[in-house]
Amino acid sequence: MPDLLVPLYKLPAQAPRGDAVVIRRAIAPEMHVVCDFAERHFSRNWASECAVAFAARPPGVLMAVEEGKLLGFACYDATAKGFFGPTGVAEAARGRGIGAGLLTTTLHAMWQAGYAYAVIGAAGPVGFYERHCGAIEIPGSEPGIYGGMLR
Ligand SMILES: CC(C)(COP(=O)(O)OP(=O)(O)OC[C@H]1O[C@@H](n2cnc3c(N)ncnc32)[C@H](O)[C@@H]1OP(=O)(O)O)[C@@H](O)C(=O)NCCC(=O)NCCS
Repeated sequence: MPDLLVPLYKLPAQAPRGDAVVIRRAIAPEMHVVCDFAERHFSRNWASECAVAFAARPPGVLMAVEEGKLLGFACYDATAKGFFGPTGVAEAARGRGIGAGLLTTTLHAMWQAGYAYAVIGAAGPVGFYERHCGAIEIPGSEPGIYGGMLR
């Protein structure tokens, strides 16, 4: 899976949602909730990345919450500075624009933090990123920083 590059100086605007889903930055006491969610729905490696992203002030973790329930998350500056990810949405909540909302909100946060570009490390759904944030593949980026990682 290649890394992708995203220009942050021409991001699409954040569209208001027409439902009860709130996308907001997480706070430190919510770390266990997000890490447990990442481990339960995805992997222990992703839970580790979430924990690292929570160590920043403010935490580099955005969440999608509906009626007190966590539906998805996205991190930045977890494995490397300037990296977006990991991100994931609970299977039952997919296809409602939540992944795109988390992506756009997190990329805007990275722009506000001073980055001009974000890197999506070892991107799985390349088409999703191309479509929602103008991501392009970085030549020669496979395997990238995750090559040889222990699981
Ligand atoms: C990728 C992910 C976060 C998207 O979340 P989501 O809430 O379903 O996304 P949205 O509803 O905002 O957008 C869905 C759109 O993206 C498209 N999409 C989803 N996965 C895709 C993929 N693998 N390749 C291309 N397009 C994809 C859908 O077809 C859909 O298109 P539509 O708007 O025309 O219906 C979610 O599928 C997920 O958690 N996947 C598993 C974890 C993962 O791969 N994370 C990314 C690691 S780099």
